[in-house]
Amino acid sequence: MKREPQAVKIAPSILAGDFGHLADEAKKAEQAGADSLHLDIMDGHFVPNLTMGSQAVSAINRATNLFLDVHLMIYNPFDYIERFVQAGADSITFHMEATEDVEETLAYIRKCNIRAGLAFNPETSVSMIPKYLDKCDMILLMTVNPGFGGQKFIEKVLDKVQFTRDLCNQLNIRAGGVTLKDNSSTGHQLPPFDIQVDGGITHLNVRRCVEAGANVIVAGTSLFKSPNFADAIKQMRQSAEGH
Ligand code: DX5
Ligand code: ZN
Repeated sequence: MKREPQAVKIAPSILAGDFGHLADEAKKAEQAGADSLHLDIMDGHFVPNLTMGSQAVSAINRATNLFLDVHLMIYNPFDYIERFVQAGADSITFHMEATEDVEETLAYIRKCNIRAGLAFNPETSVSMIPKYLDKCDMILLMTVNPGFGGQKFIEKVLDKVQFTRDLCNQLNIRAGGVTLKDNSSTGHQLPPFDIQVDGGITHLNVRRCVEAGANVIVAGTSLFKSPNFADAIKQMRQSAEGH
């Protein structure tokens, strides 16, 4: 299927930043030209690691104007939505594997007037994606097993990315899960549906993610640990766009 050119959004993951200076790290990402900031929340149960809670998100929110993309890797995400909304989350993504109340959780996040994302682990079947595409604002396809930064990119997830983008195209689903009823030129001004990839992404594999259909790129190690943040974002963007 022919793919339309996409504006790629780059979201540095602060997990690879210095936790002693989260506010400064957020400012650094903003000054370097990030499109949003990705915040990894882990509970030590859903994944074998602990990171930060809503107070840290609130402190980051006070330090930056960046769009805050909160990635919950926790069980019972529903119970924590309100506190992350109050802390300044602009979008909340939770894992399909972490709750039985996927629809209720997506609906509640949207009711709080922020964007709702649904994440899938590399091994999780994509068979449920069609059911939720029009009920969320973003699908996150993990390109590593969640829990830690600095892991190796899992290539085979690209098939799932492609499956999801093809589905959006077939069903005419655009940004925000809106289904276009016709192919009028006005309708096409609506940006594409957001498909995010997260884990092990560098300027060397980002193009393959975009070619498969991803348009939101999360990168921790390859951006925060680079000698020059702004150059690293620029290089990631250029590689993503195929330059
Ligand atoms: C992993 C997290 C990722 C992680 C990505 O569980 O969801 O956001 O920070 O880090 P890198 O880019 O280092 O793989
Ligand atoms: Zn993440």
